[in-house]
Amino acid sequence: MNRSDIELIFETADNFKTVLNRPIKKVPSLRDVTIANIFFENSTRTRLSFELAEKRLSADVVNFAASSSSVSKGETLIDTVNNILAMKVDMVVMRHPYAGAGIFLSKHVKAQIVNAGDGAHEHPTQALLDAFSIRERYGDVAGKKVVIVGDILHSRVALSNILCLKQLGAEVMVCGPTTLIPKYIGSLGVKVEHNLIKALNWCDVANMLRIQMERQDIKYFPSLREYTMMFGLNKQILDSLDKEITVMHPGPINRGVEITSDVADSKQSIILDQVENGVAIRMAVLYLLAGQTQ
Ligand code: CP
Repeated sequence: MNRSDIELIFETADNFKTVLNRPIKKVPSLRDVTIANIFFENSTRTRLSFELAEKRLSADVVNFAASSSSVSKGETLIDTVNNILAMKVDMVVMRHPYAGAGIFLSKHVKAQIVNAGDGAHEHPTQALLDAFSIRERYGDVAGKKVVIVGDILHSRVALSNILCLKQLGAEVMVCGPTTLIPKYIGSLGVKVEHNLIKALNWCDVANMLRIQMERQDIKYFPSLREYTMMFGLNKQILDSLDKEITVMHPGPINRGVEITSDVADSKQSIILDQVENGVAIRMAVLYLLAGQTQ
């Protein structure tokens, strides 16, 4: 997506956020559109947020959990989705453990496919809601300094955030242990810092990521205890900084590892605003995509 695509999504989300703050939160925009949410990986925020967004838009919704489906009997992804589409489903929201699963599917089936996270690759709607939340806090994303702290190597949130924030004119830094920063990161035009205090004193916004234990098949360095000592954000560090920064986290939080509770629940944290904005952003994405199919 380019900058004007993202700005269109934000303007559309602004309108839906107004709707979501009304006593009647529903609009008829996607009446007669049927959307399948197919999740091959666990999710709390993204799955519920997409489902709520669809219901607020008056779409018909079906939910598919891979663990209880015929995927376990060997059915392929394309066969699975074509069977769902044969039941007159119009759009598919998919989370999948493999990088590129969404784009692969979009080339092999006749439906709009929305990527709700593909392995360690991308999580586009998370990046949109993160940037939207920064815009809400500061009025604009351009010129803001954002540091993404943590397991950049295994994070789909990191890559999508970098691409989205750069399009909107933010300065982006990544901070973490060398073992968890991919070698290609410099080619994306971001700064790299291995010292948390220096990174936090540079930024306006710190997006704290968790260690993706489920995506690591080797014993990594540092250990969780070492990671917390070197890269964990606690209230003492937050209060010692030169300026009042904004703290973000895409969830799920591992309290006491990458962030302590007194930071996550502080007034500098916009973690629950991110979750709230996720519904408006996903309404905007679905609404704009549905318009393209008509
Ligand atoms: N932020 C995020 O993707 O959370 P879930 O895994 O709970 O959907």
